[in-house]
Amino acid sequence: METVAELQQQIRELKQQKRALILAHNYQVPEVQQIADVVGDSLALARAAAARPEELVVFCGVHFMAETAAILCPEKRILLPDPEAGCSLADSLTPEQLREWKARHPGAVVVAYINTSAAVKAESDWVCTSANARAVIEAIPPEQEILFVPDMFLGAWLRAQTGRRIRLWMGECHVHAAMRFEDIRAALQRYPEAEFLIHPECGCMSATLYACAEGSLEGRPLVVASTDGMLRYVRGSAAEEFIVGTEVGLLYRLQQENPGKRFYPLKPDAICPYMKRITLEKVLRSLQEEVFPITVPEDIARRARRALERMLAL
Ligand code: 13P
Ligand code: SF4
Repeated sequence: METVAELQQQIRELKQQKRALILAHNYQVPEVQQIADVVGDSLALARAAAARPEELVVFCGVHFMAETAAILCPEKRILLPDPEAGCSLADSLTPEQLREWKARHPGAVVVAYINTSAAVKAESDWVCTSANARAVIEAIPPEQEILFVPDMFLGAWLRAQTGRRIRLWMGECHVHAAMRFEDIRAALQRYPEAEFLIHPECGCMSATLYACAEGSLEGRPLVVASTDGMLRYVRGSAAEEFIVGTEVGLLYRLQQENPGKRFYPLKPDAICPYMKRITLEKVLRSLQEEVFPITVPEDIARRARRALERMLAL
């Protein structure tokens, strides 16, 4: 059996030979992040897929991310090393359900979180990620009613932040939804000096917002951010310890970039099984055999692209 270093070397050689681009999400395992050209959050990876010149792209992430790249770059060949790398949040809404919901609220603007299928994006007016969701909501005329899909926690946070009329779809990510307010209480007690970072998909978001309004998180900075937003915040912070409320894969990059600081996962078992399906062996096979190509039918891609490009133009 080959070692990690041997597999990485083979991947690097083949990548160069085929002039391929490797993109990896912040939740990927460390050895996969190490061979990527770009590591980032959903927004950064969508931008990189569109901006980079390479025509062959290996997407180390989950299905909706590769689909997003395929929508934005129909001329490129987008590969997902494991076609079973899905997303429980994206699965919580079908295009039929969205069409039916829209019919009950004619005139409302639909904002879809990027964690949705291409067919759901095609039914939406805007796409957003956790990094730009607030800016997207604020770009919509204030009198407009908004249908926000599919993450109820991110939607509730946006409603509290902007005071806008936002209806929520009751979808959730099973990894982030499992983070409860009791986990926060315990972590805050355990690490009294640490700053607290939380992803807006977390199940504890609603209770956290309520507690902030009541003042019970007073004195402890609360940073709600996307995964890249957390990385940026930590770079600029003078604090030495951080509680990280998201999937544990982010801790690798946080630690690499900030060797002098300490990071504590809010929930050490917050592991996305879909992200972890991508291994070095599968990345190598993906490059060798050019599997598994992700394509989107042109009529769906055209409509989904409109909503995505609106977001990217912000
Ligand atoms: P980010 O856009 O913050 O990377 O989040 C994507 C995701 O799937 C979170 O679970
Ligand atoms: Fe989907 Fe949750 Fe995994 Fe992100 S962490 S890819 S939202 S299942």
